[in-house]
Amino acid sequence: MTILVTGSAGFIGSNFVLDWLANHDEKVIGLDKLTYAGNLQNLADLEGDERHLFVHGDIGDLATVSALLERHQPRAVLNFAAESHVDRSIHGPEDFIQTNVVGTFHLLQAVREYWAGLDSERRSAFRFLHVSTDEVYGSLEPDAAAFTEQHRYEPNSPYSASKAASDHLVRAYHHTYGLPVLTTNCSNNYGPYHFPEKLIPLVIHNALTGKPLPIYGDGQQIRDWLYVKDHCSAIRRVLDAGKVGETYNVGGWNEKANLDVVQTLCDILDQESPRSDGRSYRDQITFVKDRPGHDRRYAIDASRLERELGWKPAETFESGIAKTVRWYLDNQAWVDNITSGAYREWLDKQYK
Ligand code: NAD
Ligand code: TYD
Repeated sequence: MTILVTGSAGFIGSNFVLDWLANHDEKVIGLDKLTYAGNLQNLADLEGDERHLFVHGDIGDLATVSALLERHQPRAVLNFAAESHVDRSIHGPEDFIQTNVVGTFHLLQAVREYWAGLDSERRSAFRFLHVSTDEVYGSLEPDAAAFTEQHRYEPNSPYSASKAASDHLVRAYHHTYGLPVLTTNCSNNYGPYHFPEKLIPLVIHNALTGKPLPIYGDGQQIRDWLYVKDHCSAIRRVLDAGKVGETYNVGGWNEKANLDVVQTLCDILDQESPRSDGRSYRDQITFVKDRPGHDRRYAIDASRLERELGWKPAETFESGIAKTVRWYLDNQAWVDNITSGAYREWLDKQYK
């Protein structure tokens, strides 16, 4: 048996593939376009592992995807591939529409054709699992209840709008063509291999290299954080036992204001890797111009997944963030290798 994982060289996709092969012997075909966010070093531990095959390609390339499906006959396709950074979507939405909307559409077309040609037993066992985000639900008022699966879609950024569009296409392919789909909407992830443009790895990297720790606006925006390996275990659970055509929210009940997250990171670093001048990393915190259209609060109600499928996160925010800081301290070469010209160009555009 085989699964096809798109976006397998990105942050969550690579964690998923590594965890999958640590838990199963089932073969994984990884498909990734290797944009700035894709990094084959994330999968370096799998070199020589016959259970893993990496293919460089675009989910929007119908011929490539169709050929892969025919050759490897997967029993499931898991779609992680996306443009994923909100700030980049504000500067340049085009790539988000191309990959997240048009790319997902082409992927669905290829998968639908492949699925329709399977024998009836394999056709009913087949799954297309679409990995999405809580950002499709928009921004919550401070005292509002957390997002359930019934919450209205109210995306506010080009990123979240493009993910919302892809969720709707996935839903439509189930309702119109019967494709056996599952969708997960997860809160903010953090952990190993997180690209250092996102808040947590950016702050760790900037702290250690003596740079400012940029907080947008007043730093009181709230995100609901989940350790990436808990997201991966949730996806495995939904793939195994999720009800076809349904969506499942994934989250760890860890709402934190951005400023609190950054201060926590500073405090852990003060313990684990103190500054040579004896001062706290908190001295590097700098308030900068807010993100346009910045969503104020996200919070996920994951009780359906817990109740119906028996999933629970293994990490608290405290245990997960400590592991994450330790991983970055132990893997500074991974971050150094990423700081390519393209990455530096982005930092210049965003923060100067
Ligand atoms: P990422 O940006 O780290 O990785 C995305 C991967 O997709 C990269 O390897 C990139 O090369 C690849 N890719 C981009 N365009 C492609 C294309 N056209 N064809 C094939 N591959 C392509 O993103 P991530 O944080 O790992 O997110 C993975 C998925 O999870 C996304 O769909 C995202 O919307 C969703 N998600 C992310 C979070 C989070 O906090 N990071 C939370 C919830 C949901
Ligand atoms: P980010 O990691 O980009 O994820 P998302 O926008 O998808 O939630 O940002 C997390 C939060 O941190 C978000 O409210 C924006 C904020 N933020 C900063 O304050 N400073 C930064 O330099 C970055 C990258 C993000």
